[in-house]
Amino acid sequence: MTNIEKSTARVLSGMRPTGKLHLGHYVGALQNWIKLQEQYECFFFVADWHALTTNYADTSEVKQSCVDLVVDWLSAGLDPERATLFIQSHVLQHAELHLLLSMITPLGWLERVPTYKEQRENIKDKDLGMYGFLGYPVLMTSDILVYQAQYVPVGEDQVPHLEISREIARRFNGFYPRKVGTNAADPKRDHVFPEPKPLLTPAAKLPGTDGRKMSKSYGNSILLSDPESHVRAKLKTMVTDPARVRRTDPGNPDICPVGDLHKIFSDAETLAKVNVGCRTAGIGCIQCKGWAADSVMRVLAPMQERRVKYEDNPKMVWEILEAGSTKARAVAEKTMTEAREAMNFSHDYEPPKQTTMAGTK
Ligand code: TRP
Ligand code: SF4
Repeated sequence: MTNIEKSTARVLSGMRPTGKLHLGHYVGALQNWIKLQEQYECFFFVADWHALTTNYADTSEVKQSCVDLVVDWLSAGLDPERATLFIQSHVLQHAELHLLLSMITPLGWLERVPTYKEQRENIKDKDLGMYGFLGYPVLMTSDILVYQAQYVPVGEDQVPHLEISREIARRFNGFYPRKVGTNAADPKRDHVFPEPKPLLTPAAKLPGTDGRKMSKSYGNSILLSDPESHVRAKLKTMVTDPARVRRTDPGNPDICPVGDLHKIFSDAETLAKVNVGCRTAGIGCIQCKGWAADSVMRVLAPMQERRVKYEDNPKMVWEILEAGSTKARAVAEKTMTEAREAMNFSHDYEPPKQTTMAGTK
């Protein structure tokens, strides 16, 4: 694929380091990132500062979680030759931009974010009444704008955050227009920040073993790193169409979580066998789950082969991230030079313009 010309448009996305990735993360995000790295200039980062917004009290595992996350990324096929992979907290420009943007972001915009209210009400085991938690969409906006990214691949749940990002970009550009003609590169661009657009990841419905959405907190997930025996054991416990009580009862794969798995992972031939076999009671659920496990393993096996070398060598993973962070810093600093200049906080000293009473210019 290297012979295909990449678009120059910039794509950025991030994930919080919250533990090992499961199939839901793969189908909902990672698989898309792996495609995007062939088509765009991509920046993918570990949002370790974001982890603090809800987990500020115990930070002992953040660093290891970052490495674990990136081992999952690399195993799944993200390629440091094709995309810049880095850690948020290693690029301090995110923090500087966050500070500047926090000055122009109205509180009302943040208080109206749906996930803010929801999480404050639902998460009772920790106190989320923190400044950083409220300001989380501003940090997310800085992550995006500091790379002047045009596209942000995200799930449906992040769309309201991105809407705020667009509004903050617009507000910054309105207060602080770029000084046209002052920069050699792109002299006619009158704004510092493009308004980032979501690239919606087509949300395939991926159920967990209990039939609910696959999620770490439900304990119903299949990890990318689960060995084959675990995948098979987990699938054996998966719920099925409740109408199939006995082996002789026909079922309907369209209302069965195992059927959903087949739709995502199985080839046409297997899908046809499932469709006919289930509806005519020609196959049993055990057999059907075995085929689903085969299909899932066809995706996971190559990842697990690749992961050995990264798991054995976390130092190498760290080096990949350091190289990525260095590249990211250079791009982020270029943006900050523009942003500071627009806000009259440039690090260069320019003597004040002469304004005399005599009306000379
Ligand atoms: N908010 C995202 C999440 O919780 C992670 C994230 C942080 C992000 N900064 C970002 C995603 C910037 C896209 C762009 O999943
Ligand atoms: Fe579900 Fe397969 Fe059983 Fe049909 S045969 S109910 S699709 S597990």
